Amino acid sequence: MGNPFLNKNILLGITGSIAAYKGAELASRLAQAGAKVNGLLTPAAEKFISPLTFQSLTGSQCFTDADLWGGQAHVVHVQLGRSADLVLVAPASANTIAKLAHGIADNLLTVTILASRCPLVVAPAMDAGMYSQPATQENIHRLQSRGVTFIGPAEGHLASGLEGTGRMVETGDIVAQLRWMFSGNGPLTGKKIVVTAGGTQEAIDPVRVITNLSSGKQGYAVVQSALDLGARVTLISAPTALPVPYGAELVKVNTAEEMRRAVLENIPGALVLIMAAAVADFRPAQRQEEKIKKEKGMKELLLEDTADILLEVAHKKEKLNPGLRVIGFAAETEDIWRNAQKKLESKRLDMIVVNDITTPLAGFNSDTNQVSLLFADGSSEDLPLMKKSEVADKILQTLLNWLAE
Ligand code: CTP
Repeated sequence: MGNPFLNKNILLGITGSIAAYKGAELASRLAQAGAKVNGLLTPAAEKFISPLTFQSLTGSQCFTDADLWGGQAHVVHVQLGRSADLVLVAPASANTIAKLAHGIADNLLTVTILASRCPLVVAPAMDAGMYSQPATQENIHRLQSRGVTFIGPAEGHLASGLEGTGRMVETGDIVAQLRWMFSGNGPLTGKKIVVTAGGTQEAIDPVRVITNLSSGKQGYAVVQSALDLGARVTLISAPTALPVPYGAELVKVNTAEEMRRAVLENIPGALVLIMAAAVADFRPAQRQEEKIKKEKGMKELLLEDTADILLEVAHKKEKLNPGLRVIGFAAETEDIWRNAQKKLESKRLDMIVVNDITTPLAGFNSDTNQVSLLFADGSSEDLPLMKKSEVADKILQTLLNWLAE
């Protein structure tokens, strides 16, 4: 729905660093994400990688200093600078950062940046010693004070064989940050959305928990869709193996009780609460402080009910946030419609996303899902098997429809 990369022109500057090969991967990822990407290599970058690599990966022209002295020389830098929505220099060497800080324009990349009027993002890559040099640090601070965004560098193994801070940030993280930057003025800008995700964990002892098979994928996809539309998203997440979508405000929880408190704390001021989490319905009545030894054994485990978060929200909504819309999820294996309808009514939801987890390729850990949307007014919509990101877009579309009413 709201792909922030669509119709965006990114000028990707590559400088003289061994991380230039990562620049090629970055170009590929950005192009796959939907952006138009023009590479621009400095003469030093050309020693590491060829323009053909970038042209092949992006399907768009890659520029070099040969273009600076070609037939269109008098305008090429102005055209490139003016047509870009964003200039990204990745990898950015200490030398190029120094030139940018001082307005030096002695190659096509630096002269183009001087002619550009769009945001500039820089991902440094250099040896740790060069990065920590006062000269480099001063140059970076100077650029930051002019509004230039720096991504990284990261810590880790360096080309010199040493460890330290200077590695270019992973390309996936750079793409995630740009995605967020481009989603700045979507239809949900200024709106707060609270999403819960993952399966809660209820401790038996310090090493054992009761949990469920929820992967968190559907909830995290909802978070990404909301961010793409410009929303301010609070993600209340039980443990998952998933990367947190860039730009989301993460509240980490483990138990149903922690999730309950986080939800009640975060719903004031929110437009909607989307409860995608699989909250434990039961927890051990007593958590053992020490690890239970095998010899001692455990024949029985006494459980007690956890609080139903959505039910509590239904009761406290009037006081906490009367305008709050609430979307719940139902994972069912039998009598699907009747069970979902009951939950919709008892938890006073505006919509429930019903999921028959016995359907192949739908439900836990899968990247696809097949759901039906059931609304408070009795209407419903059956969706075909689709990617979880597409289900997320459908949920957000419902929200946009409510806003338009
Ligand atoms: N939910 C909740 N608090 C709980 C349990 C569930 O807020 N303690 C929310 C879930 O996040 C989901 C919805 O309620 O959005 C439905 O969850 P589900 O476990 O299917 O419903 P239950 O009412 O617990 O019924 P059952 O487990 O018997 O199907």
